[in-house]
Amino acid sequence: MAYKYKNLNIEKLSQNENPLGPSPMAFKAISEQCKTINRYPEIHSTTLKSEIASHLELNTDNIFVSAGLVEALDILIRNFIVKGENLIIPKLTFVVYRLLAEVFDVETRFSQMKDYRIDVDSIIESCDDQTKVIIIANPNNPTGNIIIEKELIKLLKNVSQHTYVVIDEAYCEYVSDEDYPNTIKLQKKYTNLIVLRTFSKIYGLAGLRVGYTIASKEIIKQFDYYQPPFTVNKMAAIAAAAALNDKQFVKDSFEMNLTARTFLEKELSILGYNIVSSQSNFIFVFFNERVERDKIFDKLAGNNLIVRKMGPFGDFRAFRITIPKLENCQKIIDCLRY
Ligand SMILES: Cc1ncc(COP(=O)(O)O)c(C=O)c1O
Repeated sequence: MAYKYKNLNIEKLSQNENPLGPSPMAFKAISEQCKTINRYPEIHSTTLKSEIASHLELNTDNIFVSAGLVEALDILIRNFIVKGENLIIPKLTFVVYRLLAEVFDVETRFSQMKDYRIDVDSIIESCDDQTKVIIIANPNNPTGNIIIEKELIKLLKNVSQHTYVVIDEAYCEYVSDEDYPNTIKLQKKYTNLIVLRTFSKIYGLAGLRVGYTIASKEIIKQFDYYQPPFTVNKMAAIAAAAALNDKQFVKDSFEMNLTARTFLEKELSILGYNIVSSQSNFIFVFFNERVERDKIFDKLAGNNLIVRKMGPFGDFRAFRITIPKLENCQKIIDCLRY
């Protein structure tokens, strides 16, 4: 698929990847180390774990490294929730939560959205004694907006200690809103809070598959227990450790995205499109009718701009555009002009 896109000069705006490529420091580190791949990686990625711990000023006991954030989700949904217990996720969110719950036959409750925002009150209302896990993507994928710290604290105060509140922060590095929750601080107080992060987005390492979890020592022990040996490959761990220190690349990626996001949101609004204001590296565009959405989708595709229809995520009248480099934003706007 990637080759097809490359040959046809297609702009892939469907998977929220970093358009600036991988972190150069990560690229250099794996280029230098690639002759060591005859050796197994470290068990539980100890070196990377230490790097993440010192980066966040946490203990290594509070960090779990996984093959993408999705491996942590897999362990959570497959192993942490037993028969009779339930999972709560918002109605319009990252499709993988629902797919994993279906595969592992986990009872799933869908909280209501309010004006395309995750509604914390609806989550609280959906909880009962058997609610084991709540998952919130923050920023939410596909809407791109956030729940603020006050809302997260309200949720944490209103759910049982035995319910894990999982905050998926795949896009946290793109957030500019000052009310975004400081989950590292909150986790120290609320031991049922679990934070998931990834190297797939701002660090530009989606193809390598590496992510991490921040949680209490007891919860991390459970993640370690259920993880098969060596799922995080050696090059992924080396690249991630280097990327973590690539401050210039993260800064450039953040600034480029913020500038392009501001431009696209303004121009889309001027053109009369319905959008949700984003704190992430993508923008959610919604329509009154599915046919209208499909017409615009086809127009973009006809101009080699591939965005993602949101049906599988829970909305058949919307698509999501990954924010490209600034120079490609004008191409989108030109194409979207009626
Ligand atoms: C909210 C959210 N969580 C997790 C992921 C996947 O992360 P990873 O590539 O680390 O498995 C994505 C990917 O698009 C996502 O949007």
